[in-house]
Amino acid sequence: MAAIDKMQKRLGVESIDLLLLHQQVGDYMGAWQDCEKAVRQGKVRTIGLSNFESERLEEVCEAAEIKPAVLQVECHPYFQQGELKKRLAPYGTVIEAWYPIGHGDTELIGEPVFAELAEKYGKTNVQVILRWHIQEGNIIFPKSTNPRHIKDNFDIFDFALTDDEMAEIRKVDKGVRFFNMTLKQQEAQFTSWELDD
Ligand SMILES: NC(=O)c1ccc[n+]([C@@H]2O[C@H](COP(=O)([O-])OP(=O)(O)OC[C@H]3O[C@@H](n4cnc5c(N)ncnc54)[C@H](OP(=O)(O)O)[C@@H]3O)[C@@H](O)[C@H]2O)c1
Repeated sequence: MAAIDKMQKRLGVESIDLLLLHQQVGDYMGAWQDCEKAVRQGKVRTIGLSNFESERLEEVCEAAEIKPAVLQVECHPYFQQGELKKRLAPYGTVIEAWYPIGHGDTELIGEPVFAELAEKYGKTNVQVILRWHIQEGNIIFPKSTNPRHIKDNFDIFDFALTDDEMAEIRKVDKGVRFFNMTLKQQEAQFTSWELDD
């Protein structure tokens, strides 16, 4: 709870829009209860999880009095997270995609299907990828340090992919992550952190 208070003070806001529990390690059940308490106290408006993909996801969701609004995990056309979405459906939790454009991977961005659709709609390949996410129901927060890209990344609401085009993009799913960390590795990393409350 002290960490949430400290975060709120550091951000200088009355209420935090979205607070995520970042890893499925340590006292994650107690941490989730503190997140719920923070909502009840008006310190936080929405709470979610990140990187919970083991059975600990269901453990938290089943016990939660406030279900996670989002689960932030790796998700992009090469790793579309179909199975995870089925597991989240009972809780009304939505995927928030990290690496939404595969961390800028040129092979992913250069996939012929994106080039074809970009040409058809007068958009860039990345805009087509981001539009696909939106139509898939994913929340996205692509990162860029390039002002042109930042502007482009917002400019995806004046066109729509057809059902057939969405199906074509589903075919590029390789079921392969760019970044893989087992639960054991996450736990090892957690114990090596210097915890600052
Ligand atoms: N919860 C977690 O555990 C977790 C893990 C990993 C990442 N994240 C978060 O996820 C967010 C996204 O991750 P990310 O930045 O690694 O991956 P990303 O958003 O998939 O990709 C960023 C890369 O794409 C390029 N890019 C962005 N917009 C573009 C555009 N319109 N056209 C061409 N290239 C474009 C960027 O280059 P330019 O700068 O040149 O545009 C950058 O190289 C970050 O905020 C990160 O902190 C969270």
